[in-house]
Amino acid sequence: MAADPLHGKKVVIVGGTSGIGFAVAEAALERGAKVVVASSQQAGVDAALGRLGKGAEGSTLNVTDEGDVAGFFERLGAFDHLVFTAGDWAGMGGGSSLAELDLSAAKAAFGVRFWGALAVVKHGYGKIAEGGSITLTDGMLAHRPRKGAPVSTAMLGAIESLTQALAVDLAPVRVNAVCPGLGMTERSSGMPEALLQRFTARLPLPRGGDPAEIAEAYLYLMRGGYTTGQVLLVDGGGSIV
Ligand SMILES: NC(=O)c1ccc[n+]([C@@H]2O[C@H](COP(=O)([O-])OP(=O)(O)OC[C@H]3O[C@@H](n4cnc5c(N)ncnc54)[C@H](OP(=O)(O)O)[C@@H]3O)[C@@H](O)[C@H]2O)c1
Repeated sequence: MAADPLHGKKVVIVGGTSGIGFAVAEAALERGAKVVVASSQQAGVDAALGRLGKGAEGSTLNVTDEGDVAGFFERLGAFDHLVFTAGDWAGMGGGSSLAELDLSAAKAAFGVRFWGALAVVKHGYGKIAEGGSITLTDGMLAHRPRKGAPVSTAMLGAIESLTQALAVDLAPVRVNAVCPGLGMTERSSGMPEALLQRFTARLPLPRGGDPAEIAEAYLYLMRGGYTTGQVLLVDGGGSIV
C-alpha cells in the first residue's frame, strides 16, 4: 500500500494545543507526519505535548504579537503544511442589540482569528516547501448569520474572503479553510443539553461533531494537491437546511 501523502511531512498547527487543532495534530501524527503545535500558554503546550507523545514538538506563540510570530517562523525553518486553528472568544458575545454594541470589543473579535491568521501567514508562507499548503479556520455564522451577532459573522466571512485572496496571492502555495459547525471540543462539551439541542436538533446529522471528524477536513485539504481557495464546510449538513 502507498504511504500516506502526509507521511514524513512537517505540519505546523497554530492553536494545536486544544480542541480542533489538537485533533488535527493527533490525526497528522497517526498518518506519519511530524507536528509542531503552538499556542500562547506554556502550560497548554506542555499538556498537549504530553498527550501527543513521540513525533510532536511545541512552542509558545502569541499570534497577536507580530514580533513573536516572526521569531517563531525564523526559528522553525522549512516545513510543509500550516494549519491555523487559534481562536479566542474576545468580542464574540452575541445577543446584544446593535445600539449597545461596544466597538472596541467588536474590533477585538478580529484580533486572534483574523489578524492573528494574517500575521501567521505573512511570516510563515515563505518557509513552506513545494506542494505545501495553508489551512485557515472560520465558522458557520459566516453562512448562517444569527440575530445579535453581526460582528462575528462579518469576521468569519472575512476569513473566507482572505482564504480566496491568499490562494491567488500566494499561488502555488495552496490556501483553503475549514468551516466547522458545532464541534464537541473541551470548550463546547460542557454546554447545557438544552442549548446543544437548540444548535443541533434541526441538522440532518442531529449532534455536535467530534473533533476527529472535523480534523479529517484539514487532512484532506493538506493532501489535496489540486485544491485551493476553497472553504470546506463540516457542519452536520447545517448549511443545507
Ligand atoms: N469548536 C467549535 O464548535 C467551533 C465551531 C466553529 C468554529 N470554531 C473555530 O475553530 C477554532 C478552534 O476552535 P476550538 O473549539 O478548537 O477552540 P479551543 O479549544 O479554544 O482552541 C483554541 C486554540 O487557540 C489557542 N490560542 C488562543 N489565543 C491564542 C493566541 N493569542 N495566540 C496563539 N494561540 C492562541 C489556544 O491555546 P492558548 O490558550 O494556549 O493560547 C488553543 O490552542 C476557533 O477559531 C473557533 O472559533 C470552533
